[in-house]
Amino acid sequence: MELKEAMLKRRSVRSFSPEKIREENINQLLHYAMAGPSACNRRPWEFYVVTNEEILEKLRQSTRYSNMNAPLAIVVCGNMKKALPMQMQDFWIQDCSAAMENILLGVTSLNLGACWVGVLPQKRPVERVKKILSVDDNIIPLGIAFIGYPLETPEARDQYDINKIHIIK
Ligand SMILES: Cc1cc2nc3c(=O)[nH]c(=O)nc-3n(C[C@H](O)[C@H](O)[C@H](O)COP(=O)(O)O)c2cc1C
Repeated sequence: MELKEAMLKRRSVRSFSPEKIREENINQLLHYAMAGPSACNRRPWEFYVVTNEEILEKLRQSTRYSNMNAPLAIVVCGNMKKALPMQMQDFWIQDCSAAMENILLGVTSLNLGACWVGVLPQKRPVERVKKILSVDDNIIPLGIAFIGYPLETPEARDQYDINKIHIIK
C-alpha cells in the first residue's frame, strides 16, 4: 500500500479478532516507529511490546477509554535519561508522538487495525501503566497502540478543511 493511501485510510479500530500478530509484522512496526524524526535525533523512546494476556488485560483497565480486546499492545514511552535537558525535555512528547503515528500508518499498510490510547497527560493512568510495566521513574508512558486484525473497518475519509489553512504571504 502506498503511503498516500495509508494516510487517508488510517482509522481507529477498536474491535479485534483474537488472531495473534506475526513476529515479523511486529518487527516491521518497530522499524517504522524508530524511523521517525526526533529533536536533535535524541530518539528518547522505548517500546514495550505486550502479548501476555494478563498484562494486556491490565493495560485495558488502565484508562477510562482503553478497554480493547487486541492481542498486541505497543506502549510508547519516553526515557527521560535520553531526553534533551532542561526546557527542551518535553520535545520527547513530540518525538514519541511521531513514532506512534508511524506505527499507526504501518499498521494500516499491513492491513491490520489499531487504536492510539492516550496515557499522558493523565496522572493516574501514567502511574498505573508504569506499575503494570514495572518501569522506573525515568520512563513515562505516552500512549498505547492496541493492535490486531480488525473486526471493523471504519471508512476511509478525508477531513480536509479549508478553514484550518491560514496562508501568510
Ligand atoms: C493522543 C490521542 C489519544 C487518544 N486516546 C484514545 C483513547 O483513549 N481511546 C480511544 O478509543 N481512542 C483514542 N484516540 C483515538 C481518537 O479517538 C481518534 O483518533 C479520533 O476519534 C479520530 O478518529 P480516527 O482515528 O478514526 O480518524 C486517541 C487519539 C489520540 C491522537
